[in-house]
Amino acid sequence: MRKNILSFLEKKTKNEKITMVSAYDYHSAKILDESDVDIILVGDSLAMVMLGMQDTLSVTMDEMLIFTKAVWRGAKKSFILADMPFMSYQSSDYDAIINASRFIKEAHANGVKLEGGAEVSSKIKSISQAGIPVVAHLGLTPQAVNMLGGYKVQGRNLQSAQKIIDDAKAVQDSGACMLVLECIPLKLAQKITSILEIPTIGIGSGKYCDGQVLVYYDLLGINKDFKAKFVKHFDTINPKMAVQEYIHEVKNGIFPSEEHSFDYLDDELLDKLY
Ligand code: KIV
Repeated sequence: MRKNILSFLEKKTKNEKITMVSAYDYHSAKILDESDVDIILVGDSLAMVMLGMQDTLSVTMDEMLIFTKAVWRGAKKSFILADMPFMSYQSSDYDAIINASRFIKEAHANGVKLEGGAEVSSKIKSISQAGIPVVAHLGLTPQAVNMLGGYKVQGRNLQSAQKIIDDAKAVQDSGACMLVLECIPLKLAQKITSILEIPTIGIGSGKYCDGQVLVYYDLLGINKDFKAKFVKHFDTINPKMAVQEYIHEVKNGIFPSEEHSFDYLDDELLDKLY
């Protein structure tokens, strides 16, 4: 049976970690599925990783659909989460529903992910009311790179940390079934994880999240030009062993360690957050 959002909620209540990997093709999906990964995210990071683009902004719906279909062909049990590309949902609630439904009808995805907080509440509401699970994404949101001034850790001061908490509550209230937290201080991610009923999935946000996500090619260590602080290279010879090691370390709280996290918030500031 394919994994579903109820099983992820149950994992949160039982304190069991959720495993997610961002991958884009049939063979990777097969390896991940056979290794029992919970969620395969067909991330718009494929714009950079697979297509060599300079950021995630130019990838189109039609391109995302091709990769999502390939992942569906390779994965029989994992939940397939499709990333909504830039401007496929920001323009209107109508565009958001139509494009989300294309992932379900044409590519057999099980849910969609989109970036943003309170400003995308109506989109989350519309898509989830149409019966499509929506995963939200806060912190470092790469589609907003031009607003953020680069790929930087978010939530480092009181105002920006409180905004991320407020947005996390807003996306949950709008119907999001899960929340990806990218590159925020680990104690902020811990606070959000304890406030929310829906699971949080961290990338560069520390060990207290309900689950973790890494890009497949990053965990295999294929890109030798650049390694972000939050990335760990697992076995580089055998992809299946690398994936199994990643799953083992996430499930047992070994990865991410302090070395892969950002610990910027002091206790005085944390006490002021609500
Ligand atoms: O596009 C992607 O792969 C992502 C993850 C890194 C969270 O959004």
